[in-house]
Amino acid sequence: MEAKKKVLTRRDFLVSAGGAAAGLALATSGLGILAPKAEGATIDLPDYPWTEYFNKPLDVEAVRELGAKYYGEGLGCAEGAFRALLESLGEPFSFVPSQIMNFGKGGVVAWGTLCGALNGAAAAVSLVFGGQQMAAIVNELMAWYSATALPLTHEHRSVAGNPLCHASIANWCKVSGKKSSERGPRCKALTGDVAAQAALYMNQMLEGTFVPVFEMSEETKACFDCHVGGFADDTLGKMDCKGCHEGH
Ligand code: HEC
Ligand code: HEC
Repeated sequence: MEAKKKVLTRRDFLVSAGGAAAGLALATSGLGILAPKAEGATIDLPDYPWTEYFNKPLDVEAVRELGAKYYGEGLGCAEGAFRALLESLGEPFSFVPSQIMNFGKGGVVAWGTLCGALNGAAAAVSLVFGGQQMAAIVNELMAWYSATALPLTHEHRSVAGNPLCHASIANWCKVSGKKSSERGPRCKALTGDVAAQAALYMNQMLEGTFVPVFEMSEETKACFDCHVGGFADDTLGKMDCKGCHEGH
């Protein structure tokens, strides 16, 4: 069993492809129905964690372009960001079907919850790093997204205040004067930016230079300390409370 757990290498792939070519030869001789097909080849994915397969820094700008490209091709923000990172990471990451993240678009099929670009990028981070490293990167990505005017290079930039698609789109409509239905080019650029930011953090983690810089505001920290695990201990979350609640 253990011996079978290996990454499908290019050579293995060529062997399968050779099998298909042989099948094709058989097909012309009328015996093709018995020949194996390359598409039917099983890929044995390696055991987790896959951290060791991330061994050279990602090209952050290439990830940004890919994220925008895949959004532009209709994959949506979540699958777009996920796929841009998987493809840049290469094998075995690229064997994971990106469609698994398609549900994330529009903050989970247009529910406006977690921004899909964040969802997809975080999923890719989670394939690379486990446990605390994953949590540190995703935490920073969530905080960066909440506090940064996005998209980075778009003519209209807005701060979401939290990681919700709902707030992100609403604030962008307010700043830009545009309709939500006109968000395509904006979400396209944002998908690239979020995937690129995740790539940047992963590179820093790889190189041992990752240092989180975002901190909860003093105000939110006070609410958090009491309501999340503190005296009141009656809710969960790190979002800026004032975005939705009055103080008391
Ligand atoms: C010293 C502890 C403490 C701090 C600090 C604190 N709260 Fe509360 N909060 C409570 C308690 C106790 C209640 C009443 C019981 C409950 O709902 O848990 C409450 C109630 C609430 C409620 C329920 C509705 C209401 O008004 O009764 C909300 C919402 C809330 N707090 C939000 C916040 C926010 C936002 C902040 C920061 C700006 C904050 N709290 C700071 C202890 C605290
Ligand atoms: C994106 C909006 C949003 C943010 C940000 C947010 N909350 Fe809430 N919160 C809600 C909603 C929605 C409810 C459910 C309210 C309801 O059903 O009446 C809720 C409920 C609560 C309640 C219970 C309210 C009650 O009536 O008893 C507390 C306490 C609370 N939130 C505290 C916080 C604290 C503290 C923060 C910051 C760390 C925070 N919330 C951030 C939306 C938000």
